[in-house]
Amino acid sequence: MHKALPSLKTIVTIFGTRPELIKLAPVLRQLDLYPKQYRSIVVCTGQHTTLLEPLITIFNQKIHHQLEVMKAGQSLNLLASRLLAALDPILESTQADLVLVQGDTTTALAGAIAAFQRKIPVGHVEAGLRTDNLYSPFPEEANRRMISRIAQLHFAATPRNKQALREEGIPEEQIALTGNPVVDALEYIGKSGRRSELLQTVLDQTQHQKRLVLTTHRRESFGKILEGNLRAIRNFVEKHPDICVLFPVHPNPTVTQTAHTVLGGVPRVHLLPPLDYPDFIALLSESWLIASDSGGIQEEAPSLGKPLIVLRESTERPEAIQAGVAKLAPTPKHLGKLLELAYEGKLIHNQVGKNPFGQGDAGQRIVQTIGQYLQQPHQERNLVSV
Ligand code: UD1
Ligand code: UDP
Repeated sequence: MHKALPSLKTIVTIFGTRPELIKLAPVLRQLDLYPKQYRSIVVCTGQHTTLLEPLITIFNQKIHHQLEVMKAGQSLNLLASRLLAALDPILESTQADLVLVQGDTTTALAGAIAAFQRKIPVGHVEAGLRTDNLYSPFPEEANRRMISRIAQLHFAATPRNKQALREEGIPEEQIALTGNPVVDALEYIGKSGRRSELLQTVLDQTQHQKRLVLTTHRRESFGKILEGNLRAIRNFVEKHPDICVLFPVHPNPTVTQTAHTVLGGVPRVHLLPPLDYPDFIALLSESWLIASDSGGIQEEAPSLGKPLIVLRESTERPEAIQAGVAKLAPTPKHLGKLLELAYEGKLIHNQVGKNPFGQGDAGQRIVQTIGQYLQQPHQERNLVSV
């Protein structure tokens, strides 16, 4: 076992899915800038496999512990139990001073619980996102609330997120307003300008059309809503010959099956494999309109100044709606109407001003805050605002 120098603090960062790595990579890069201060141990749980592998390469992310918890179609409980069992020996052996988790996935929740049960402080990146509905998004809304109850450091991306935590009784000094590291990641990837041959071919084929980029994968919309949304999109593309749909399909079996049943073979609908991050950002940049139930894409759309229809009943990121770039489509009927409004050029009235999700320095702010926290003696540990 590595014996840490007294001043060297061990930070164990746990991630398992695509969005977690996108948002933790900028933090990990910052930690690596201070090897005399931090021993950074990176744990990938393997909740995602195919979606995550290209990202690990793109971010050139070193992984110290690779777990293999994914089993196709397994239940959330089975996943959570496998995560807890696999994480515990790592936490036992690494003697972490802090465990970092991000967001609201099953990996993040299990990571926080595993750390808490070993009395290791938890830092939560992207804390304080809330809808008013425990079941939407499911199970993420409950996951993020549970993590807030046991974390010591809460990295809030926006003033609204910070306020939500304060209203739940989290002491002000434990919350740092940092922005969301997705903005850092987006800037880093945007600079690469790389495009795969597959993406370039699709962009060439669709260069004279209005490109509607679609992603959807949320569990709470499986069934009627998902099918209805895809039908609304099919009707829209069939009605307008200058529209095309570019849909990187999430590998969740329910999504893949529904996508092929409703949209397979429809002219000008391109069902694509999940794209790696540089390709996907390039695709968003070349889009006319985005329709998505993704969390991260709600942050990326304003960063890229692209209009977005949010395929959800409610959102924990109303900042994008307030900034004037996004509109909510709670039902397929709303979606159909919003698509027509967009076609008439009436969907969005405002131009995006300052990005509500950050300025690209969240990684730096988070690591600075961690440094201040860990410098204090155990009993006095509080956050100093940055
Ligand atoms: C998970 C997160 C969700 C996040 C999403 C990002 C939970 C509860 N949900 O949802 O918050 O928005 O990741 O994409 O943690 N699969 C593969 N290969 C992969 C990934 C998934 O085949 O690389 C298939 C498997 O059959 C797997 C299923 O998709 O069982 C669902 O994956 P899972 O990680 O459980 O949930 P997501 O829907 O991806
Ligand atoms: N993304 C990607 N390739 C794709 C679709 C999405 O790289 O084909 C990126 C997207 O830019 C965003 C992240 O994946 O940063 C969002 O992941 P997802 O929608 O799966 O999860 P969520 O953000 O909803 O948790």
